[in-house]
Amino acid sequence: MIIDPLGRRFKNLRVSLTAACNYACTYCVPDGKKLQPLNAELSASELDLAVRLVVEAAGIDKLRITGGEPLISTKFDGLLATLNQLDLNDIAVTTNGQFLAKKMAVIRDSKLSRINVSLDTLDATEFRKIARSGDLQSVLTGIELALKENLKVKVNTVPLRRANLDQLVPILGYCLDRGIELRYIELMNMGHLKRNQEYQLEFVGMSEILDLISEKYEFRKLDSAYDSTSVRFEIPNRGTFGIIANESVPFCRTCSRLRLSSNGLLFGCLSNTKNYDIRPLLKKSQEIAHVELQSLLRQAMSDKQRLAFTGETTVMKFIGG
Ligand code: GTP
Ligand code: 5AD
Repeated sequence: MIIDPLGRRFKNLRVSLTAACNYACTYCVPDGKKLQPLNAELSASELDLAVRLVVEAAGIDKLRITGGEPLISTKFDGLLATLNQLDLNDIAVTTNGQFLAKKMAVIRDSKLSRINVSLDTLDATEFRKIARSGDLQSVLTGIELALKENLKVKVNTVPLRRANLDQLVPILGYCLDRGIELRYIELMNMGHLKRNQEYQLEFVGMSEILDLISEKYEFRKLDSAYDSTSVRFEIPNRGTFGIIANESVPFCRTCSRLRLSSNGLLFGCLSNTKNYDIRPLLKKSQEIAHVELQSLLRQAMSDKQRLAFTGETTVMKFIGG
């Protein structure tokens, strides 16, 4: 097992199925054009092999399927079938929720037990302004269906000063009523937002989010899991919420994440463009692939930031949130 000088090890693999997305959220793409798949996406069989190899070589026990938008990938169903055969403790997906209803049958037959859904507003008009596509009602219906299936649902909300400040507390109410853990994600300095004035204008930090919440709810801080992305809070007798405070409370020191992009690149860090192409390994024997992968994983581990996310030109769509 690879352990770095800070005691970090890879435990958590995030697999981006496709860079394509059916939305074009303002904080993700600058020009409103929907994201397209990367050139040379891994085929279904290459993905199957890549995931098996990386899970085994890195000692992964948590796997999250991401994108782009993973539910629009034709490889989604096949990957779930592969994951049914692997020895993982936690299988989850991060989705914009638009097609959750359509995918519920295949999810029901899989080992996927957790779904994180992006939801930035409960206002249908504002929703279209932020996502520049899709519709709020389908997302809400998808969430209800997932809850009915007893899937553990979390909601991710990115606070944006000029778009959804008035929605931050109502979304919390919506989540508390349904036993959903809401996580506010501080806007990340990624892609076109990096060193861009828009980032400064839109950013809303943890202390301001907590001030807004305190106008309606009393809460207390909880302990978070060692390698959690979020600072968690409890509202007594109501539920919990979290803040993924990339800026205010950086969490790189305990990062256990490894990423596989849809075109077969391994990334050791969200805040580093360095990557390692594992496609050539897929043609080698399992033993040789395993040995070579160890060396790539060692390099990927050394790419991790020591302290904080410093911003990157890498975009979530490529690397998968
Ligand atoms: P849980 O396992 O449910 O806690 O999920 P998660 O928070 O790891 O996954 P999700 O896909 O819901 O990610 C939510 C947000 O966490 C992302 O949009 C990022 O803002 C942030 N995040 C995830 N991984 C990293 C990381 O490695 N570094 C940093 N700085 N932020 C990350
Ligand atoms: N800052 C914060 N969150 C972002 N996401 C995408 N881009 C950004 C950004 N620049 C969020 C999505 C989704 C999660 C995986 O990443 O809203 O919930």
